[in-house]
Amino acid sequence: MCGIVGYIGKREIKSRLIEGLRELEYRGYDSAGIAVMLDGRIESFKAVGKLSNLEEKTKDFATNGSGIGIGHTRWATHGKPTELNAHPHMGEYSYVVHNGIIENYREIKEMLEERGVTFLSQTDTEVIVHLFEIEAECRDDLFEAFKATIDQLDGAYAVLLITQKAPGTIFFARKGSPMIIGRSGSGEIFFASSDAPLIGEADEAAYMEDGTVGFVTSETLYTEPEPLSFVPLQGDKMTAQKGGFRFFMEKEIYEQYEVMSDTMIGRVLDEDIVFEEIDDEFVDGITRIKICACGTSYHAALTASYLFERLSKIPVNVEIASEFRYKEPLLTDDTLFIVISQSGETADTLEALRMAKEAGLKTLAVCNVDNSSIVRMADATILTRAGIEKGVASTKAFATQVMVLWMLSLYFAKRRRSMEREAIKDELRFMSYVPKVLQKSLEVHEKCKRLSKRYLHGHGFFFIGRDIFYPLALEGALKLKEISYLHAEGYPAGEMKHGPIALADAELFTIALMPKTLLYDKTKSNVEELSARDSTILSISPEMFDLADDFILTHPHKHPMLEFFEMMIVEQLLSMEIAVRLGNDVDMPRNLAKSVTVE
Ligand code: AGP
Repeated sequence: MCGIVGYIGKREIKSRLIEGLRELEYRGYDSAGIAVMLDGRIESFKAVGKLSNLEEKTKDFATNGSGIGIGHTRWATHGKPTELNAHPHMGEYSYVVHNGIIENYREIKEMLEERGVTFLSQTDTEVIVHLFEIEAECRDDLFEAFKATIDQLDGAYAVLLITQKAPGTIFFARKGSPMIIGRSGSGEIFFASSDAPLIGEADEAAYMEDGTVGFVTSETLYTEPEPLSFVPLQGDKMTAQKGGFRFFMEKEIYEQYEVMSDTMIGRVLDEDIVFEEIDDEFVDGITRIKICACGTSYHAALTASYLFERLSKIPVNVEIASEFRYKEPLLTDDTLFIVISQSGETADTLEALRMAKEAGLKTLAVCNVDNSSIVRMADATILTRAGIEKGVASTKAFATQVMVLWMLSLYFAKRRRSMEREAIKDELRFMSYVPKVLQKSLEVHEKCKRLSKRYLHGHGFFFIGRDIFYPLALEGALKLKEISYLHAEGYPAGEMKHGPIALADAELFTIALMPKTLLYDKTKSNVEELSARDSTILSISPEMFDLADDFILTHPHKHPMLEFFEMMIVEQLLSMEIAVRLGNDVDMPRNLAKSVTVE
């Protein structure tokens, strides 16, 4: 998501802006830019991709001396991630950065075009700077012109604007998108869309209320409708990045409902699924799918195999990338080869992708990191838009991978006419409930905290489930073992009697995923078998279950995927609380790396 920074002061302005943007990187972005005003002249730089590209572009640009600057990382919504669409956007003599969405930008744009304004970008933001310059034409007071501009905007915004007509001044406004202003003892002023860039720089900060509009220079700070109240800024850089959560993993679990909306935005419509990244030609002639991935991404792939076969009626085969590499696989060119990777750098997955490309298959990456090696190699990529994931144990990346794959299965269902239109519409309706369901599911956190104390010993955990809840069981077991170092296995519930049940006793913990919408009675029988052998049972279900020693009650839902996402959150929170009680490093568990770039 987009990030904003601003600076007034005497220290090197470019570095202040770029360092500030770096603190906002975790929000995810696909281009970045800055505009700096020194001696009344504004210079602006933009670059697609990482901040390092912007640094490279500005390496000969010296910004010493007293001045002002604004900066932005853009996460594309209106228009592709290109340099022209990157912020700051410029008018004749002014520059603007903006977070949020201007809902009435089309009307404003039409009005401005009728007045002869030419637009350079496809963004909603650009209207702000042109509108300001039109308003400034008929007024001497530039703050009045700025207010008149802001008054005409519908939607959500955090806006910073600088203009050559008011050297040394930053105009700002906030509605629906966060913005904080900070100041240091030496008179510097900072702006940022979260407090992370201010920590260690500013001494105090004011968290602007919606509807605030104002301007600031090195001498004056003026806001309407009320003056800002500043509070001391506390904390270190690390806690700031964690946004008040104890761990990145916790923050990332809590972010899931928001990032899922990002994953869907512009793709899930009322009656259709749209992927700008692929077209009919790309999927033409495809009669089967092969998916390759590792770890958590492999679990997303396994989940997808149920969805593709059930909804799109297309045969799917899923392989662990490290196995695929050496099995001398038979590949046919009617196969779409999908790789799934959070990091986009996993060596085994990258190699599997290379093999598929060499065999002439069409390749598609489902990935969270733009410009990563996997993204660059694949024919097409669907980005999961989870934002940067810092916890080694993947959470929000998994959620968004599954979401993209569910969307993709409906995309194929439509093209292959394997589902009625009404049935697709129903699926889309349920899909749109997911963010709300995820938000509500967090209510279970306290219960997970309490229960965790009973699950710190024993000789092992079985996570069991059927259908899509089998890969979810695998994922639950992986989460637990990664951060608690306890032995855990995921199994299809029906498979226990074929061997694993031999381990059952009171010290074996069964975590039973018992959704009501899918094979409830079948799963229940399998859990009864384990209970009869004295295994300690924790059931996760919307229905109470007599034979369970513990239970976590989930909400009743009408669609298995809604139950899936709720149970996913339960597994994540439970694993995290167990690891916390065991005193483990939740974000950086022993022996593990976030990006596995070796074979
Ligand atoms: C997930 O919690 C793990 N840390 C790990 O299994 C991970 O999913 C795997 O290494 C694959 O990574 P990727 O998605 O970046 O390719």
